[in-house]
Amino acid sequence: MSKVTVVGAGAVGATCANVLACREVASEVVLIDIKEGLSEGKMLDMYQTSTLMDFDTKLTGATNDYTQTANSDVVVITSGIPRKPGMTREDLIGTNAKIMKGVINSVMEHSPNAIIIVVANPMDTLTYLALKSTGLPKNRIIGMGGALDSSRFKCYLAKATGANINNVDGMVIGGHGDTTMLPLLSKATVNGVPVSQFASQEVLEDAVQKTMVGGATLTKLIGTSAWYAPGAAAASMVEAILNDQKKMIPCSCFLEGEYGQSDLCIGVPAIIGKDGIEKVVEVELTAEEAEKFAASAAAVHKTNSILHEIGAL
Ligand code: LAC
Repeated sequence: MSKVTVVGAGAVGATCANVLACREVASEVVLIDIKEGLSEGKMLDMYQTSTLMDFDTKLTGATNDYTQTANSDVVVITSGIPRKPGMTREDLIGTNAKIMKGVINSVMEHSPNAIIIVVANPMDTLTYLALKSTGLPKNRIIGMGGALDSSRFKCYLAKATGANINNVDGMVIGGHGDTTMLPLLSKATVNGVPVSQFASQEVLEDAVQKTMVGGATLTKLIGTSAWYAPGAAAASMVEAILNDQKKMIPCSCFLEGEYGQSDLCIGVPAIIGKDGIEKVVEVELTAEEAEKFAASAAAVHKTNSILHEIGAL
């Protein structure tokens, strides 16, 4: 028996709930939103796909009634406003920090033992806010960004190298921002063979650039922030936790000295299992990558400092 709550019935939250249901990751999925009827409607619609998609996950929609989320094993927080074309994720902080504070209190009141996955933006800073305002141990609050950014990186690498998408491996660390994320070209491979064997440096650098603005590109095309990959990325993290998969997933973790950084949540590879973040993995970075990671951390610290300015911390 496992129960997952997804907070926020927007496109990302609903997609996450849908992936969890279709893959039968949990026995019950609760979708909750402040908007009257929205989560009930989406969960009813999803329930009506049960025989079509061959799943029997229990689906519950709840309008702001956190009692229905009680004793969830994992809670995914997607609630907040999405960015519009031309906005950065950091522009959302004022509104979304306020929403996060309200949500995290209600979540913890009803699911005191849950592991929390933060999706809302600016993701690293809201993960930090969730951690600081609850005082939960650092293994139980995880930011989703790196899982998403890495899946985008792999797509662009597959295009660049002509390789089968499922043969491509690569990860993105650093902040989940257009200028702060750090796709690790030095570690990217096609089935273990360095990508440099399959494409020129110029083509690979282009894949890196496309990855970094991957979210912005979609926002421009769609008119609002993406949802299929963000929702699926969050669901894959839930799966790693509930099935104790011990998968290495780049995600936003609270650092205490790893990678030379402290007192922030930022994307690094971590082993994700039943206890949430079970271990931060310190991979060797090139000198250039280490420099970029430090700059990324400085930018995340700067966004975190806004939390104090607006009285959220
Ligand atoms: C994106 C949002 C979810 O990158 O941050 O699409």
